[in-house]
Amino acid sequence: MRFASAVLAAASLVATVSGHWLGEVKHQGVAPFAPSADWKVFRSVKDYGAVGDGVTDDTAAINAAINDGNPCNKGCVSTTETPALIYFPSGTYLISSPVNPAYFTQLIGDASSPPTLKATSDFKGFGLIDADPYYTEVLNWKSQNVFFRQVRNFIIDTTNIAPGTAATGMHWPTSQATSLQNIVFNMPKTDDVVHVGLFMEEGSGGFLTDLTFNGGATGASMGNQQFTMRNLEFNNCKTAIIQLWDWGWTYAGLSINNCKVGIDMSAGGDANALNVGSITLLDSTFKDTGVAILTAWSTSTSPVTAGSLVIENVELSNVPVAVQGPGSSTLLEGGSITIAAWGNGHKYAADGSGPDNSAGPLDAPSRPAALLADGGRYYTRSKPQYEDVAASSIISARSEGAKGDAKTDDTKALQAAIDKAASAGQILFIDYGLYLVTDTIVIPPGAKIVGETFPVILSSGDAFNDVNNPKAIVQVGATAGQTGQVELSDFIVSTKGTQAGAVAIRWNLASDSGKPSGLWDVHVRIGGFSGTEQQVGQCPKTPGNPAVNEKCLVAYLGVHVVKEAAGVYFENTWIWTADHDIDDESNTQITLYAGRGFYVESTNGPLWLWGTGSEHFVLYQYQFANTKNIFMGQIQTETPYYQPTPNALVPFTPNTSLNDPDFSASCAGVDGNCAAAWGLRILDSSDVLVYGGGLYSFFSDYSTSCSTFDAGQTCQQRIASIEGSVSNVGLYNLNTIGTIEMINRDGKKVAGFKENENTFASNVAVYKAA
Ligand SMILES: *[C@@H]1O[C@H](CO)[C@@H](O)[C@H](O)[C@H]1NC(C)=O
Repeated sequence: MRFASAVLAAASLVATVSGHWLGEVKHQGVAPFAPSADWKVFRSVKDYGAVGDGVTDDTAAINAAINDGNPCNKGCVSTTETPALIYFPSGTYLISSPVNPAYFTQLIGDASSPPTLKATSDFKGFGLIDADPYYTEVLNWKSQNVFFRQVRNFIIDTTNIAPGTAATGMHWPTSQATSLQNIVFNMPKTDDVVHVGLFMEEGSGGFLTDLTFNGGATGASMGNQQFTMRNLEFNNCKTAIIQLWDWGWTYAGLSINNCKVGIDMSAGGDANALNVGSITLLDSTFKDTGVAILTAWSTSTSPVTAGSLVIENVELSNVPVAVQGPGSSTLLEGGSITIAAWGNGHKYAADGSGPDNSAGPLDAPSRPAALLADGGRYYTRSKPQYEDVAASSIISARSEGAKGDAKTDDTKALQAAIDKAASAGQILFIDYGLYLVTDTIVIPPGAKIVGETFPVILSSGDAFNDVNNPKAIVQVGATAGQTGQVELSDFIVSTKGTQAGAVAIRWNLASDSGKPSGLWDVHVRIGGFSGTEQQVGQCPKTPGNPAVNEKCLVAYLGVHVVKEAAGVYFENTWIWTADHDIDDESNTQITLYAGRGFYVESTNGPLWLWGTGSEHFVLYQYQFANTKNIFMGQIQTETPYYQPTPNALVPFTPNTSLNDPDFSASCAGVDGNCAAAWGLRILDSSDVLVYGGGLYSFFSDYSTSCSTFDAGQTCQQRIASIEGSVSNVGLYNLNTIGTIEMINRDGKKVAGFKENENTFASNVAVYKAA
């Protein structure tokens, strides 16, 4: 046995040598705040004794790789100090109990030849990967605080486990800035199978893409506040998707084949109090499946908008029932047809009339050609992993002289490394670290940049501290309208200390709409972690006290897409001003002032925002002005917790050249907390389509008592505004929390929370502003 596995280990060593570059490059990430100076960021499970021969039990070795150095695992609240990338070379790793990744730990398989995690027949535990275990009756990490995690490139196989024995492929209750990509779940295909591929019971997500589910009782069983999920294939599952509960969810590119039921969103239906708030489904196919969508919605649903459903461009092939309602009623006949657009729930017309509570065909938006791929679906592109690139042609930021130690000024070295890689047509690998910069980093056309886990580009100093002269930390394109393309993935842009003039990312580049630039898992994280000096010690919350600590002005703007910019694809981008300190053991709340969230004024677009969020900015989370051709698939926002103490006019002065709101006209004569951060503001724009949005205001001066239906949703008066001359602007499944008015058109209320109550949010299924 020993000899045999040694031979196999040698054989897989050969395979490793020809594996994906990520496993082969020199690994020199540094974690400046880790407990030990020699903290290992990169860990190959084979270096910890995993064999990957399909025979040896590798459970202990894999968990040893994860737990080396004592990262934030059992009993720990959260951290950014101990990052780790756990790498799995190609092979079959037999496991008898779960792999339990720590906080801020990625599990990444060889993208060229994804490894298999295979359960033993007597596997014990909740998920081959259990990303948030129940060591007690509650999850180890509060699911709404599970950030910055990834799992990609795996085959997860439960076929050794008896079909009738409960088994779960993966347990993934997570929140923002997390992603799954390129994972296959293989389960038994027998009639008695009870296995579940992916299980998620709560959280505030999130994004995932490119998953395949074969067999099983349920492909994916999911509950979470909101999520964006793309390109999921289900083959021979009894039920492809069970929606346990949600507020809002965007599914695109589902391919459901030979299942009994496609999406079961009927949870809670028996008690006539539905658990599922809303679902938006587009660009999908259902084939040889009995019922595409099973719902408990009716015109007498309780709460009144629960179970809202919007579907667009969905193709059925041999699917007898498209949407089945309570008592096996047919809400929409199936067959072999394409459903252009259909929905049930509350609809408001462009003239502001509504709500009309009904089920039926929808007047679909005209899809702007610039946003579409061949075949008429919205354009998508998964994060490139550069499988065909040799390790020898990867350039490392640290090899080029950048330190990433959170102390050294890395401006020049990082810039030189970026320029060198871009001009050579090579990929720049930013080894994990915190790269302090004191001047703008310019990303030129042609750049391809990949971070190891989530390295941080951290601005510091006077250059970024003039509130009257905002300056970009990362500027994509040297000049506004420069042409070309870039690909950016897996890194974070942040600020250190007072940075009242910092613009985290300014997008100047104009890319061809057929060959857009892309950002995948690139986040803006303002404050609340070690190295920022914007933590509990510097910026504690001060409920009841509107006085501003001027030291806590930490950013001017999150992401700015300028007029001349064009062709940008965002996927899983979270622009977050911290509401709490991730590296504080009690996750204590903090008060930071960052002016504006995500601002788009690109004249022509197109822009895709798949799975993005923007939270806790002072004036607004998303603002679109004089722009067009914008796709959004589940956006999520939160208003700062301290507002209205002070309100949104403090401490930044509205800048008219940025079209900042000044609330003078919109709040004239309006009671309540009106000068509050907009979740979404659209001015003088066309072809702006929001396929799912959650705009939340949970707090008033740090108290959540305003955010319930009984309290009257008084955290703020208004949250979404459409102003001026607009055309083809549509909102689908817009969910709001804590705001009295849900949608405003030129200062007038279109929809209020009261008539649109959903499970926890309020929902408008369809509003076409024009
Ligand atoms: C207003 O925004 C413009 C455009 O970004 C900028 O050039 C200008 O400096 C800003 N003005 C102030 C006072 O912040």
